[in-house]
Amino acid sequence: MNQLPAIDRLKDLVIQRTGHHYYADKDKLLYERARERMHARGITTLDDYVGDLERLGSQEWRALEDAITVGETYFFRYPDHFAALRNDVLPRLIEARRDVHSLRIWSIGCSNGAEPYSVAILVRELLGDQFEDWRVSITGGDISDKALSAARGARYNAWALRTMGPEDRAKYFDRDGAHWVLKREFRSMVRFERQNILALLSTMPPLEWTAFDLILCRNVLIYFSPQQAVETTSALTRCLAPDGVLFLGHAEATLAVEPALWQSGPSRLPTEFVQALYPPVTPQPWTYTPPVLPPMPHSSYAVSPTQEAGPASVDESMAALQQLADAGEYEQAERLCAKLIAHDPTSARLHYYDAILRQVSDDVVGAEAALRRALYLDRNFVVAHHRLGMLLLASGRVNDARRELLVASRLAQAASAAEPLPEAQGVSAADLYQVLRDQLNAIGEAA
Ligand SMILES: C[S@@+](CC[C@H](N)C(=O)[O-])C[C@H]1O[C@@H](n2cnc3c(N)ncnc32)[C@H](O)[C@@H]1O
Repeated sequence: MNQLPAIDRLKDLVIQRTGHHYYADKDKLLYERARERMHARGITTLDDYVGDLERLGSQEWRALEDAITVGETYFFRYPDHFAALRNDVLPRLIEARRDVHSLRIWSIGCSNGAEPYSVAILVRELLGDQFEDWRVSITGGDISDKALSAARGARYNAWALRTMGPEDRAKYFDRDGAHWVLKREFRSMVRFERQNILALLSTMPPLEWTAFDLILCRNVLIYFSPQQAVETTSALTRCLAPDGVLFLGHAEATLAVEPALWQSGPSRLPTEFVQALYPPVTPQPWTYTPPVLPPMPHSSYAVSPTQEAGPASVDESMAALQQLADAGEYEQAERLCAKLIAHDPTSARLHYYDAILRQVSDDVVGAEAALRRALYLDRNFVVAHHRLGMLLLASGRVNDARRELLVASRLAQAASAAEPLPEAQGVSAADLYQVLRDQLNAIGEAA
């Protein structure tokens, strides 16, 4: 039996799980946050609550994570950052991607969505008439379900829009009483998913966390210990495309001072708070540490949730599934997936999505079986090999994992380099090949 006082046990668990070292010297605040949850569960002592948390696992954790995270944000927060994005970073990235017409952007710790939506507005305006010819993927990730649900709703009060004048408000939002609802054209550019950025440190990152042209990680690492902030920043640079840019908040920029990371940004960017980084010239190899976190949801293309019934074509079915998953409606998505598989049991894609949904609900055995079904139906399904490899690695079956990752790497190498791979959210064969090389190196086998 653990003899530590309950508050210390809770603190250790919270810091280990969320990175929130911030609570290390804030017993009272943490206790107040936990008390909300104790109250909701009808529990009277912290001791019982911590016992419950250890026993109940992910469901109660999600509620506690909602209670302990701080979601302060607003549109176009820090005008200098957005001026740099508008006048320098995004135009340069757009120019550099003119041949492939593709931009991948990640806002991590996106809270209620104000940050990724602000970027969506900029990108759409900068691309102008060309927007329809581009594949723009913007992902907002957050550990808090409550934040993600607000982000998907895209409904804001005037305080969240405090940096914007009446003209811009009217241009980007529809008025709804005292609130403002972001126009659909911008909402549909961003998809949201539950993510814990600590997964970057405890396991190899999901395939989708790669080859980003732009990453924003602002006011998230300030809650972490300085060491974890530096390690996370370093890991984030490895999620960038070769000339991609990482934006940190002011405080994070001061925290993450590891010299190896800091290469000079473009001279026109504000330098009083360094926020633009280029990835190290020689990326560090991934190191493998057995993971402690559950798999994170994966999904794409966010719009409003759709009905379960009646998708006509495979693409429509997949879109409906993805929309449900994006909306956090995992049970509905599972039901729809089961229905679709009953209708078309030979679709490898459907079994692949079945696997993802099972991973979200921590059904590792079911996920492995679903991936194996997908691969039985299509043995060249690169991302299914990759996902299976990652799943096996997470279960400690390193040899089996290595086999799958090697197959994936051979298939990725054989595919046309710039071609986006099926079900890989715009990640190209060349990008995946690079990721796999790093991963295989980390577990002791060159690709
Ligand atoms: C203060 S808000 C920052 C919002 C926005 N980036 C900005 O600067 O305006 C911090 C957000 O990070 C999220 N967060 C905290 N820890 C996280 C973690 N380990 N992984 C992902 N998101 C996290 C919180 O839920 C919260 O929504």
